[in-house]
Amino acid sequence: MSFLSSIPPIVDHGLAIDRFRDEDASSLVDLFRTIYGDAYPCPDVYDPDYLAGANRQGTICSYVCRDQTGRVAAHLALVRSAPFAGAMEVAQGLVHPTYRGAGLLSRLMDLVIEEAGRSHDCETLFATPVCNHVMSQRSLASAGFTDAAFEIDYTPARLFAKEGASRGRVATLFAFRTLKPSPDLDMHLPRAYAPVITDLFRQAGTPRRFVHPHTDLPLPTTSVAEVADVPTLDLTKITVARAGRDLADRVLAVERQARSSDRAVVQVLVDMGTPTVDAAVEMLRAAGYWFGGVLPRYLNADALLMQKTLSTPNFEEVKVYAPAARTLLQVVQGDWFRANVSVLITAPRDRTRAMAPPHRTADNGQLHA
Ligand SMILES: CC(C)(COP(=O)(O)OP(=O)(O)OC[C@H]1O[C@@H](n2cnc3c(N)ncnc32)[C@H](O)[C@@H]1OP(=O)(O)O)[C@@H](O)C(=O)NCCC(=O)NCCS
Repeated sequence: MSFLSSIPPIVDHGLAIDRFRDEDASSLVDLFRTIYGDAYPCPDVYDPDYLAGANRQGTICSYVCRDQTGRVAAHLALVRSAPFAGAMEVAQGLVHPTYRGAGLLSRLMDLVIEEAGRSHDCETLFATPVCNHVMSQRSLASAGFTDAAFEIDYTPARLFAKEGASRGRVATLFAFRTLKPSPDLDMHLPRAYAPVITDLFRQAGTPRRFVHPHTDLPLPTTSVAEVADVPTLDLTKITVARAGRDLADRVLAVERQARSSDRAVVQVLVDMGTPTVDAAVEMLRAAGYWFGGVLPRYLNADALLMQKTLSTPNFEEVKVYAPAARTLLQVVQGDWFRANVSVLITAPRDRTRAMAPPHRTADNGQLHA
């Protein structure tokens, strides 16, 4: 008997959890459409052939819950979406509105975690639960995930229009669960955030070899970095493998391009396996970027997230489940404030004005001191 066939049916509603089969593809497309309309940021999910093919190839490993008629009532997948092949994302959690609140997401969660270790040679799991509700965060916390970063304004509001689930852009958390510990992995710490990062890893029980920075480290002239533009999320992402003296100029050039293309967010991921992480963070802070957290093992090495929203971030609608995540959000929001206050201080015409926290106005949402 296979592991999956040993799963008992859910209560007496005739629902059955199973690995995805080719014949589920059209019904899964319908479920995406029921929840997101046509707005899901990866348009491939509306193509049954893509879903079936990706599941055959193993780039997506979908698990479904079928109702009595065989239609897909709920879905959760393991997706190879990170640069590190040993990391898998627990993603695309969907439960048809008729079946919500009955524990389907949590049942699927337990299953995919078992399967990740058993069948997919996975070293670390991560998930990016949305913050316009706490249900996914709660299910992940119950399944042993730790929240490690906030990606503020990551998701466009249009994604949630069908269910009327948000007014503004929606933040996501980056939550992780280690399956195979890597205590010998070097993590180069930036001075600015060393205490919050080391606390986070210690509280999660995730061992690392913490390396403190040398402030006189000579930097190469040129950075090694990759830029990815993601129009479906209105987002531009820069991944910095090694910082050079040109980093700030290069990031600001990418940011100018992002602004002219109406992007909402620029994210910078800094590889924490390299000693230039502290210098990178100092340059980014001076350029108005603020702390998001750490994406453990996202690049195989951990990645430090720095971010900048190109208009006032939607902190007001962020809903958080775990107390530790609430503390992390305070750090993130405090650092956003630091980045914006320092801009105000260095702007000459603001020098004579009284300092006050930036706030959102009712009319145009701009920052005012
Ligand atoms: C989010 C979603 C998948 C949840 O599915 P679900 O089957 O109703 O969730 P569950 O019943 O398994 O509940 C998940 C957790 O939230 C809790 N929960 C359920 N309803 C809740 C509510 N109204 N308020 C607070 N917590 C709630 C459950 O107790 C459970 O926590 P536990 O594991 O600690 O017991 C579903 O609402 C959905 O499809 N939403 C739209 C798409 C979406 O937002 N997907 C998530 C993207 S990250």
